[in-house]
Amino acid sequence: MTQFSGIQPTGLTHLGNYLGALRQWALRHGPDDLFCVVDLHAMTIRHNPNVLRARAREQLAMLIAAGVNPDIACVFTQSDLIEEHGALTWVLECVVSYGELARMTQFKEKAKGQDGVRAGLFTYPVLMAADILLHGADAVPVGDDQRQHLELARTLAKRFNASYGEVLTVPRAVTPAVGARVADLAAPERKMSKSSGDQSGTVLVMDPPELVRRKIMRAVTDQIGEVRHDPEHQPGVTNLLDILGACTGADPRLLAGEIRGYAELKERTAEAVIEELRPVREGTTALLADPAELDQIRAHGAERARARCRHRLDAVLKVTGL
Ligand code: ADP
Ligand code: NA
Repeated sequence: MTQFSGIQPTGLTHLGNYLGALRQWALRHGPDDLFCVVDLHAMTIRHNPNVLRARAREQLAMLIAAGVNPDIACVFTQSDLIEEHGALTWVLECVVSYGELARMTQFKEKAKGQDGVRAGLFTYPVLMAADILLHGADAVPVGDDQRQHLELARTLAKRFNASYGEVLTVPRAVTPAVGARVADLAAPERKMSKSSGDQSGTVLVMDPPELVRRKIMRAVTDQIGEVRHDPEHQPGVTNLLDILGACTGADPRLLAGEIRGYAELKERTAEAVIEELRPVREGTTALLADPAELDQIRAHGAERARARCRHRLDAVLKVTGL
């Protein structure tokens, strides 16, 4: 089984992404799996070239610092294979219809009320399909917001194969590995997200410890005053217990019985999160400080990814008459 996971280099990778995705990937990855820093996707909206370049490096370093072993899985940066990803994107743009893209709900949401919407935002789902199909992925962990895009990738693979011959693997969506679902500290009824306007309840992996502590000490709780694991009535307290449990390996329900007050809960959670994120943050920083090492990891990943996909792209080009 070949799993493909992409991560956008936004610079806003948060505790939810870490516990829900990065750490899960680190715990379970094999030689067939691919992890891709999707920097081409990050320029579908207004971007700063130097910031994009720096963040793509940071995201690659963070993947490795989080424990994804680049000697086991294939870890690469999308733009290092821009010829391959770009070529398949073009071919697939000639497979997809305009109407299919116009129906994508994420595009409609992101383009709403914006001037100068980039055509790349419109064709983004085709690039995503190319990412998956180029590498022959058959299992793609997707959250709800990407389900429609994955469905499109399946449609395009089937249509391509029906027109030109069986070249592409039809991928299927798999439910992402279950990690803790982390809620926003300032608004525990919603999930922690890079796209929530107010970031005061979002702990970033790269936040310095004092800032992590401050954000957690200010987490919204309730007036009940008792530490109970009760998602319905005490979402803020329960979120802190779940985070503490995820970081320490303890059962959040047992923690609830053992912790006496909200101050103690916050102190312990802050400590646990700081300790959990410390090696990831320090490892990321250390790799960024060693550009030769990071370049070498990056080149190694690109070489492996290219060697794996080249025959498939050649077959695509051949059967389409190129
Ligand atoms: P965001 O919601 O911040 O935009 P993404 O949608 O890019 O995050 O999600 C990237 C990965 O991180 C996905 O695998 C998703 O399941 C996971 N993830 C995102 N937010 C959370 C969260 N609050 N708790 C747990 N996992 C999360
Ligand atoms: Na999202």
